[in-house]
Amino acid sequence: MSENASHNYKVHVPFDDLREWIAEADKLGELKHASGYNWEEEIGMAAELLQHDEKAPVALFDKIPGVPEGWRVLTNFFAAQRMNMTLGLPADLDKVGLSEAFLAHFREIAKNPLPYEEVTEAPILENIIEGDDIDITKFPTPVWHDRDEGRRYIGTGSFNVTIDPDENWINVGTYRVMIHSKNQVTFYISPGKHGRIHRDKYEAQGKAMPVCIVVGGDPLTFLMGCTEIPYGVCEFEIAGAYRGRPLKVVKGKHTGLPFPAGAEIVIEGFVQPGNRVEEGPFGEWTGYYGSKSAEPVLDIKAIYHRNDPIIFGCPPQRPPEEQARYRAVMRSALLKDELQKSGVPDVVATWCHEAGGSRQLTAVSIKQRYPGHARQAMHMAAQCRSVAYAGKYVVVVDEDINVADLEELMWAVCTRSDPDKSIDIIKNAWSTPLDPCISPWDKEAGNYTNSRCLIDACRPYHWKDQYAVVNMPKPETVKKTKEMFSWLLEK
Ligand SMILES: Cc1cc2nc3c(=O)[nH]c(=O)nc-3n(C[C@H](O)[C@H](O)[C@H](O)COP(=O)(O)O)c2cc1C
Repeated sequence: MSENASHNYKVHVPFDDLREWIAEADKLGELKHASGYNWEEEIGMAAELLQHDEKAPVALFDKIPGVPEGWRVLTNFFAAQRMNMTLGLPADLDKVGLSEAFLAHFREIAKNPLPYEEVTEAPILENIIEGDDIDITKFPTPVWHDRDEGRRYIGTGSFNVTIDPDENWINVGTYRVMIHSKNQVTFYISPGKHGRIHRDKYEAQGKAMPVCIVVGGDPLTFLMGCTEIPYGVCEFEIAGAYRGRPLKVVKGKHTGLPFPAGAEIVIEGFVQPGNRVEEGPFGEWTGYYGSKSAEPVLDIKAIYHRNDPIIFGCPPQRPPEEQARYRAVMRSALLKDELQKSGVPDVVATWCHEAGGSRQLTAVSIKQRYPGHARQAMHMAAQCRSVAYAGKYVVVVDEDINVADLEELMWAVCTRSDPDKSIDIIKNAWSTPLDPCISPWDKEAGNYTNSRCLIDACRPYHWKDQYAVVNMPKPETVKKTKEMFSWLLEK
């Protein structure tokens, strides 16, 4: 995991849409078919069970009571060997290797986003529903958590497509989408997200906001949609460049916005300024129920869907869980990239820990070069775009610590930091209404900020050579011990 490690993996993404991805997961022996379970309760129960297990299969639910056979729900896409398959990388990479290899490819392709290609014939156009026929409730949208009290979120593994009203660029972002009636949904976007900036601009200008919500895009495009891709960059073009072939899109009849030709379900409509309705609460990635607030209403003008559509479900759960798993891989990579670009030298490794939903506990290791290097790294890390939102703890350690190993990280915190000298606090930082630590009265006042605890758990630079020696055998002793005594551990 050195800064200059080169990863010449040939990236091969073997799918263009969700169905091709399912076929690949099946080849890996990781697909389970589940038949006859209901959306009201049972699919959500299964999702909770599967998503906490990093080796668990992906489940495809069919024959869901009350909906036509073939209308399906998929959940737990990111686990076991299919994590690597989804990113088009070799199966033998562990999660840190996967993140590093993703970054190596991402760095190359991000220089040249690949424009999407418009087509006029596409599977998503198999069914177009408009006018009085619109009924978004007819899809088997699960109630994902048993305390959601019947609220149905069709958008979890989804992404919203919007266009900046001033600058004209297309953004793609994942935000939870709740069904309110046959022709109305809401989506919740936290302050500061690119989609939220678009939304706020339309609202301020008193203009209707065009939106397309893609439910059941291919998993790679979904991952780009929920990753902190820089401002002004269209995630469709990053997904295309990553894959090495342009994403095929069609343009919505009402909004003109692009959406993937091979998507399963697309909801197209407009948000009228000021039109809001109560949304949430919903079980969230923090492991708690988050916000309940008045959110914009999308009036649906068209629903597009393939024959036998599949809802792609990624409901957030209490971490560590599926979402934390994929976000750790993606976000740790982007953080490393941002830190290096910001000029912090000798960043060895980064890990956004699953225990904090991949946002709240960030670890960075460096090879210290000068006094103050550790503080520089930890302050930069706390405010990089990839981890700035909703962060809590940032820990910087020396390069001998495996940042992805929570026990080792905490050992470094316990033995190389002194609370009085090693901790800096940042106040009033970018957080979210979903943060369970923000009091009801601060939320009421619109104060969605929190503080950051930055822990310098590096040996102090100016006396690091006098620091207590780590109690572990020398490499040659480790080798000799293995040769002499491995038999003691044999079962
Ligand atoms: C399953 C899932 C659900 C998410 N739901 C929301 C949400 O409801 N609201 C939100 O602001 N961000 C949500 N996110 C995070 C955003 O997708 C993420 O921050 C993304 O980078 C935002 O993109 P943007 O900055 O282009 O708007 C979710 C992410 C995932 C993986």
